[in-house]
Amino acid sequence: MARYEIIGGKPLNGTVTISGAKNAAVAILPAALLVSGKCRIENVPNISDVRILTSIIERMGAKVTLPEMNVVEIDCTDLTYAEPDAQLVTKMRASYYLMGALLGRFGKAHVSLPGGCNFASRPIDQHIKGFLALGAEVDETEEYVALTPGEDGLQGGRICLDMASVGATINIMLAATLIPGQTIIENAAKEPHIVDLANFLNTMGARINGAGTDTVKIRGVNSLKGGTYAIIPDQIEAGTYMAAVTAAGGNVLVQNVIPKHMDCITSKLQEMGAKIINYDDSIRITRTGPLRKTTVKTQPYPGFPTDMQAQVCVCMALANGTSRLTESVYETRFFGYCTELESMGASIRIGGKTALITGVEQLNGAVVYAHDLRAGAALVIAGLAAKGITHVEHIHFIERGYENLVEKLTALGADIRRVEE
Ligand code: EPU
Repeated sequence: MARYEIIGGKPLNGTVTISGAKNAAVAILPAALLVSGKCRIENVPNISDVRILTSIIERMGAKVTLPEMNVVEIDCTDLTYAEPDAQLVTKMRASYYLMGALLGRFGKAHVSLPGGCNFASRPIDQHIKGFLALGAEVDETEEYVALTPGEDGLQGGRICLDMASVGATINIMLAATLIPGQTIIENAAKEPHIVDLANFLNTMGARINGAGTDTVKIRGVNSLKGGTYAIIPDQIEAGTYMAAVTAAGGNVLVQNVIPKHMDCITSKLQEMGAKIINYDDSIRITRTGPLRKTTVKTQPYPGFPTDMQAQVCVCMALANGTSRLTESVYETRFFGYCTELESMGASIRIGGKTALITGVEQLNGAVVYAHDLRAGAALVIAGLAAKGITHVEHIHFIERGYENLVEKLTALGADIRRVEE
């Protein structure tokens, strides 16, 4: 098994270019199944989740080509119904988007339950509620979800989500795009990748309004045509590099970002002592002085993202005073990394949804284990800031979502290498 070996204590300096957004890519690739034509999708991150998804789609009969780096072309003009490969589906979370896409295109779906980062119980009852509201009959077992048209067939419907679920919003949008009538999703998630998916589908001929607000309206169309679309930059990848500079110090230009998407992260890192300047599509972050404590509560967009919880925790672990970090999306997310950070010298007290983090003078290198994607990213940041050598094990979690992490950090002056055993 491969691991990262990091010799910490070096500030980061230079320029890093952010890749396309993972969580947009894993929604847009299945969305191509809805299109009777060729989609050219640009700015696709070369990460393992994307590679798994493209091979699922290819095995289902779609014509998939990779004409150049970070570009995927998918032609589903002549696609006929096929079940996604069960083994591949269980390797990642977002494979559940195949349910919505297949229901929309073929009126039926049989998809194994997804795998992926299991840092919490991750139910899909809201996705199912959406499919039922669209007239589907649902057969859900411990292994798969099977969707077929109910007695009255599939038609638009109104769904009020119990919580603003990203996955349910996306799955319902995918299903409703080709289903007759109007679908309205109330209490929809507002994350940037929801808007990106709507923009992709609308570019291909869909009629989706309101993405980015809490009411999304989808007017079903007969078919979608092909086209070209570029995925937005990854908000969380950008935030991860910004947290790395905050923790390890340095001066970095983070380019290919949408600064507006970063507002909540930017303001917290500023409170902690980082200096940040926004440009049109880049951000300069500098951290030379000491770090100050802060308070963070994770929330759905536009709040502070849960996917940045672990990375900001590392900054807090090095700040003066006791910071308070509250998780309100996935309560059990602290357990994926806090013990590992403690083995590096961090002082963390967890009580329910809140962790109190008392800053220490320095973290020390250790052997630590990534338990999920963002937890793993946090351990890399801790290793960069720590004194001595850190070995981060189980890096397959990290490689699900960060393109060229070692190369990008090395270019910023970090001492990190990937070691194969
Ligand atoms: N929830 C339910 N029932 C549902 C759906 C969600 O109870 O049917 C609950 C969840 O348990 C959670 C909350 O609602 O407490 C929000 O979950 P959401 O559905 O928004 O999350 P998701 O779609 O499973 C996506 C991202 C995650 C990110 C969350 C929150 C993708 C592929 N995944 O997950 O990303 O943490 O939204 O923003 O888009 C990551 O990138 O590392 C990652 C885990």
